[in-house]
Amino acid sequence: MQDFNNKTVVITGAASGMGRAYAQAFARLGSHLALCDYDREGLHETESLIRGECQREPVLAVFDIAVEEEVAGFAEKVRTEMGDVDVLINNAGIEGSAKPVWASRSESFQRVMAVNYFGVVNCTRAFLPRMLARQSGVIVNVSSIFGLVGTPNHADYCGSKFAVRGFTEALMVELSESPIQVHLLHPGGIATNIARQPSSQAFSGHFLTTPPEDIVRYVIDSIRKNRTRMVYGNNAWKAAWGARLLPLKAICAMAWKEMKGVIDLSDYDFLKSNKNQTGAKREKFQE
Ligand SMILES: NC(=O)c1ccc[n+]([C@@H]2O[C@H](COP(=O)([O-])OP(=O)(O)OC[C@H]3O[C@@H](n4cnc5c(N)ncnc54)[C@H](O)[C@@H]3O)[C@@H](O)[C@H]2O)c1
Repeated sequence: MQDFNNKTVVITGAASGMGRAYAQAFARLGSHLALCDYDREGLHETESLIRGECQREPVLAVFDIAVEEEVAGFAEKVRTEMGDVDVLINNAGIEGSAKPVWASRSESFQRVMAVNYFGVVNCTRAFLPRMLARQSGVIVNVSSIFGLVGTPNHADYCGSKFAVRGFTEALMVELSESPIQVHLLHPGGIATNIARQPSSQAFSGHFLTTPPEDIVRYVIDSIRKNRTRMVYGNNAWKAAWGARLLPLKAICAMAWKEMKGVIDLSDYDFLKSNKNQTGAKREKFQE
């Protein structure tokens, strides 16, 4: 797809961050927008930012993308009010518990999977049948560089983003003889509001530095070029090449070295006892 003027674009998670930046960029390109989020206030802020740019009033919907019936209702609303969808950006997502596996609650694994993975599945399945009927459309599914490399204190989030990757790569194969474009996006560190946990603030300040407008420009260019895997943002290429070329042991060591200074280590008691043991060994040696 080359031209987005008069095209209908659906963006999930449009109340903040990259979702808001997509809305602003597509509005400037003359697209008709259907925007959803569960943050009502943020979604209305996005609407007020694009009001002057839109040729047509956007469809707005407030609901939780983890709920399949709500997503189906939204797809129906968009079809009735705007007609067929040309571009679907499955962008909504949340961070995880920001704790290691043994200190995270089961609810956190389930909620992150429900939003980050099943949100993508629900939206893809709700909009795909019309795209198949027309043999036309673009789907962009948002994974992460944490869908390429496992990182400490992010097992719930990594699990969901690896799952988005598997789902999307399978869909790409299924549609490889169709003109429907399927894209998989692995953002690096983008300066948004995603890291809301107090214990994520050092990580966020250190890694989330690329402006959302930059990655949105890259995604739009990638849709035009039909670039299937999109990798962009702080540390993104390092992670992508590392994941492809290095042995897993080396990737794990690299991820730990990069992250240990900026994550919450309060649940890693064994690090303290390791340190004490090393100190005790050193003292013994010196005796
Ligand atoms: N910021 C980064 O560095 C980064 C890196 C890699 C991937 N990502 C991914 O990019 C996407 C966009 O994130 P962002 O960084 O712009 O974060 P953000 O928090 O600024 O925006 C995410 C939006 O999704 C909405 N949302 C979350 N759960 C929802 C739900 N259940 N139903 C409806 N809306 C929901 C939020 O309200 C928010 O408006 C996410 O999928 C995220 O995992 C972000």
